[in-house]
Amino acid sequence: MLEPHERAPDETMASTNTDELIAQLRELQREGEAAVQTAPDAATLEALRTLYVGRKGRLTTVLRRLGELSHEERPVVGAEANRVKEALAAALDLRETALAPAATADAGLDLSLPGRGRWTGGLHPVTRVIDEVCDIFRDLGFARVAGPEVETVEYNFTKLNTPLDHPAADMHDTFYLSDAVVLRTHTSPAQARVMEAFQPPVRVVVPGMAYRRDPYDASHAPAFAQIEGLAVDEGITFRDFKATLSEFVRRFFGPDAKTRFRPSFFPFTEPSAEVDVSCRLCAGRGCSACKYTGWMEIMGAGMVHPRVFAAVGYDAERYTGYAFGMGAARIAMQRYGLPDIRLLYEGDMRFLGQFT
Ligand code: PHE
Repeated sequence: MLEPHERAPDETMASTNTDELIAQLRELQREGEAAVQTAPDAATLEALRTLYVGRKGRLTTVLRRLGELSHEERPVVGAEANRVKEALAAALDLRETALAPAATADAGLDLSLPGRGRWTGGLHPVTRVIDEVCDIFRDLGFARVAGPEVETVEYNFTKLNTPLDHPAADMHDTFYLSDAVVLRTHTSPAQARVMEAFQPPVRVVVPGMAYRRDPYDASHAPAFAQIEGLAVDEGITFRDFKATLSEFVRRFFGPDAKTRFRPSFFPFTEPSAEVDVSCRLCAGRGCSACKYTGWMEIMGAGMVHPRVFAAVGYDAERYTGYAFGMGAARIAMQRYGLPDIRLLYEGDMRFLGQFT
């Protein structure tokens, strides 16, 4: 089909003016579309609209010359002019929508606003310390096991050679759930459970929560994480005990960390010791964290008492062993230089977020 402006060859009446105007209109469309498609912003686009299709624009200028044409020719060129006008209007509208979203975003953009950080999860510092400690003991031959947090008085005290008139069993120091059931006051009952379940050689670490009616202050929490350790075999001596724990301290705190064993008392170990590490915050010189002693207590420990062996059915003549219980949060405080244990138990993301 022929376009309105195309004339069949036999329409000889066509004047050169018609051809010229149609050529001009097409050139106008080509130029106009090219300019519109590359217009960088809305202001330029508006100027182009005025320049091409405005009342005094270039299209109007061409249309003014319609008067030079014959009556027959006018509609032909007029139709072509309309087509070009529509094409240009469409191109202008298209470009306007393309530029519009960018303009809106620019208007609402405030480069001084703080960015929205991406939420990343991470392990709690106490969990990290527990994993690290257990990994070190795994390399030293210890398996990682768990015990119940709700314990019987029998396992928490009796089997550990702790008479119920011992201060540790006092109502004031323990959360009793009933006469015979408590929230465990330490992870040591796991010792008895492991020994009843397995024959020697036994080497385990038992991380978990323990509960005491302690004040909630800078160095105490009523619910706190402990890591119990137990090694039982034929021929285990106090020297193995000292060597293993000193090796642990070096691996966890660094090769220059010193270990100190102080005589102490626990009903379930004999002899008993408190194990100290040279303060990591002041390198043993003395600071407020170590109360100017240069040492930090990290665990209670000792050789397993023969009465405990008897209570779990181990032959105390044949087997010896050592046990220890360390405070995971105390160790985390040393590791990260923290002044207050409550930071570790309050779940404040501004603090905890630093460990992710
Ligand atoms: N259970 C003791 C406490 O919580 C620590 C300990 C564990 C001591 C094992 C000796 C042996 O204080």
